[in-house]
Amino acid sequence: MILVTGGAGFIGSNFILDWLAQSDEPVLNLDALTYAGNSENLASLTTDARYTFVHGSIGDGALVTNLMTRYQPRAIVNFAAESHVDRSIHGPEDFIQTNIVGAFRLLEAARAHWGGLRDRQEFRFLHISTDEVFGTLQAGDPAFDEQNQYQPNSPYSASKAAADHLMRAYHHTYGLPVLTTNCSNNYGPFHFPEKLIPLVIHNAISGRPLPLYGDGRQIRDWLYVKDHCSAIRRVLDAGLPGQTYNIGGWNERTNLEVVMMLCDVLDELKPRADGSSYQEQITFVTDRPGHDRRYAINAGKIEAELGWRPAETFETGIRKTVRWYLDHPDWVRNVTLGSYRNWIAKQYA
Ligand code: NAD
Ligand code: TYD
Repeated sequence: MILVTGGAGFIGSNFILDWLAQSDEPVLNLDALTYAGNSENLASLTTDARYTFVHGSIGDGALVTNLMTRYQPRAIVNFAAESHVDRSIHGPEDFIQTNIVGAFRLLEAARAHWGGLRDRQEFRFLHISTDEVFGTLQAGDPAFDEQNQYQPNSPYSASKAAADHLMRAYHHTYGLPVLTTNCSNNYGPFHFPEKLIPLVIHNAISGRPLPLYGDGRQIRDWLYVKDHCSAIRRVLDAGLPGQTYNIGGWNERTNLEVVMMLCDVLDELKPRADGSSYQEQITFVTDRPGHDRRYAINAGKIEAELGWRPAETFETGIRKTVRWYLDHPDWVRNVTLGSYRNWIAKQYA
């Protein structure tokens, strides 16, 4: 079996659903169910004997050690993290605790478990990281490759960078078979509507402003979440321990382009009552402090060495995503009650 951490979040839940759709290998999901974790994402697995959920933190060393002793996972895939840059600006503490201290405790438990295995070479610790650790690019700079210097600019990216360094050190010093992936911005089903794409879909159909920070010309490199999941499976199958792999879809867009495209798809699938475009709702708001201007991933290594390629284009992925949100109003309603409202009030005051 494999141990997945943070599997009730956006990417983790997509990963578990895809995994069990393609394999009978059981999954143990350890998730602290923070505001970003949602058991409803995995409701279809409630009676599936291949799926086990444990409510707890990667920072709880005793719990993680017990789980490894009891379930003997052949691999760990670590998604668990605080993941929202804006929240890291308001309050970095949770990011330090989970993304750095939690990752360290998970590594320690994994090292002890791995040390006792007969076939240690077969074990894998796959750590899911981000392109944000590399910092920001100017227009015309080459995309980030695996040799790029780490220059994180936000408390979020700095905490992810620290964890990446621990991963590297545990491989280099102890020989733990660690793999790290650095992926660009994901989008798709189960994305919490505090991030740009689901926020814009939700606000558009609720008649609220579509907030673009600063001039809206910042660039992100977008990948459909199922393509990220297929890349992770490929790295787990064929990646070399100690290596890092950049994952991206060669798909750079300004935030303004992304929002315009979402408006176009919504205009077609769910036209506004007054017949005008959702673009009318676009509003430019105060910029994020320290906002990185551009991210871009060179995915040449994973393509050449592991033969991975994304299946979706941005056009097909965005259309699937908008449809998913329109088809799941109950999911959206449940995650936008309570503390979500407090966050929106604070962030967009
Ligand atoms: P998310 O915020 O949607 O989900 C995070 C999950 O981790 C939640 O289920 C949460 O409950 C859980 N969690 C938080 N603290 C925990 C703890 N201490 N112990 C156990 N579980 C805990 O995040 P996401 O967007 O799914 O991102 C998953 C991973 O992928 C993160 O490590 C993130 O840095 C990385 N990543 C995300 C993106 C993106 O675009 N979303 C891109 C590249 C990399
Ligand atoms: P986000 O989804 O928060 O991801 P990240 O900061 O990790 O890239 O934001 C994506 C881009 O969209 C980023 O440049 C910030 C911008 N953005 C807005 O312009 N308005 C918003 O309301 C949000 C949430 C993000």
